[in-house]
Amino acid sequence: MSETELQPPVATFPIKAVREQFPALGRAYRDKPVAYLDGPGGSQVCKGAIDAVRAYMERGGANLHGQFPTSHETEALFDEARAAVADLLGGKEEEVAFGPNMTTLTFSISRAMAREWKPGDEIVVTEMDHNANVDTWLAVAKDKGLTVRWIPVDTETLTLDLSDLDSIITDRTKLVAVGAASNAIGVVNDVAAVSAVAKSKGALVFVDAVHAVPHFFVDREALGIDIVTCSAYKFFGPHVGMACIREDVFERLGPYKVAPAPDQIPDCLETGTQNHEGLGGVIAAVEFIASLGSGETRRERIESGYRGIEAWESSLAESMRSRVRDLPKVTLFDPDTAHKTPTLGLDVEGASPTEVCKWMAEEHSIFVADGHFYAVRLGDLTGVNKKGGWVRAGLAPYTSEEEAARFVEALEEYVTK
Ligand SMILES: Cc1ncc(COP(=O)(O)O)c(C=O)c1O
Repeated sequence: MSETELQPPVATFPIKAVREQFPALGRAYRDKPVAYLDGPGGSQVCKGAIDAVRAYMERGGANLHGQFPTSHETEALFDEARAAVADLLGGKEEEVAFGPNMTTLTFSISRAMAREWKPGDEIVVTEMDHNANVDTWLAVAKDKGLTVRWIPVDTETLTLDLSDLDSIITDRTKLVAVGAASNAIGVVNDVAAVSAVAKSKGALVFVDAVHAVPHFFVDREALGIDIVTCSAYKFFGPHVGMACIREDVFERLGPYKVAPAPDQIPDCLETGTQNHEGLGGVIAAVEFIASLGSGETRRERIESGYRGIEAWESSLAESMRSRVRDLPKVTLFDPDTAHKTPTLGLDVEGASPTEVCKWMAEEHSIFVADGHFYAVRLGDLTGVNKKGGWVRAGLAPYTSEEEAARFVEALEEYVTK
């Protein structure tokens, strides 16, 4: 086999069939097909999810608790959506709650948890994380007089520096908030190592899996996670956020809610009316991942589907990284770790990220994003915020070899023109 030939399971990844599941890929801009390389900002939506959203509205929707079929159907949809997310993350149906997005759910959860916290209690956040999993906790810390400790980033390796974890997480730590993967540079954090120390000190572990779930299997039990959150619009579905909260933690939570709303989990966290049509889309997005795998149960198919996704995405991303590293004037923020998502954060000497991204869209119909992507602390530490952040190219299961190559060739043209 020559070096350029694809290795299994990459060779068997059904890229053509996958692309057919994404109607948006038919779009052209400036007479060329669009290459969507902004999956980390929001993936394209699979056909099953689009159809499910439409179907809910077309067949007649209703609110909960009615004595008529459309209301019963909506109630059933909640149950099915909880079951799908429980399979996705490894939990039980009653542990899954929905909300508008990850950030809003994290605000609600952090507020509820803080009711039990006292001045002098400690929480831990990281320098790597998206602000949604930092500022939410800083806000309750400020209100409650908590001490905040940080897990630092090693700016050489672009990974979390876990060497001092044992003193950062103390017996007073109530919660450790850590991301599963960085939406800016693609590093996958060692959540299992963080949670092992957290558990030994009696602290809860809150994981932002928003950037992870589109790319790899997040196994709540294996990683020792108490609360995990994600957002369907990043994994091929509509704009719906979700949290999976370990039952005993959820039972103690006591979220802020209006009086007539149910007290029991998980409904107690779902304030107001939810995005019913979106729930159908969530189920379909999970089914899309499962459809790429094999196995007896949906959870097995999901795990196996992720193996195919990871193999495909990593092979494209590795080939991009190796070519980008050799380009003049380009700095690739390339974490020194084996496990990465296919998300490349880079800087082009002498050009602002905004200019580069505009040029990519106008000249090559490549949609890549610029900015700090709300990983503000990481942007400060790496110095990129001084010039407007990173250029970020993020792949998805529907990214083709041609699109990955088009990005590298366009970048080469930009830096050599
Ligand atoms: C890693 C990460 N965490 C959290 C969020 C916030 O998610 P949401 O938009 O669902 O609030 C994002 C959004 O970009 C993200 O990439």
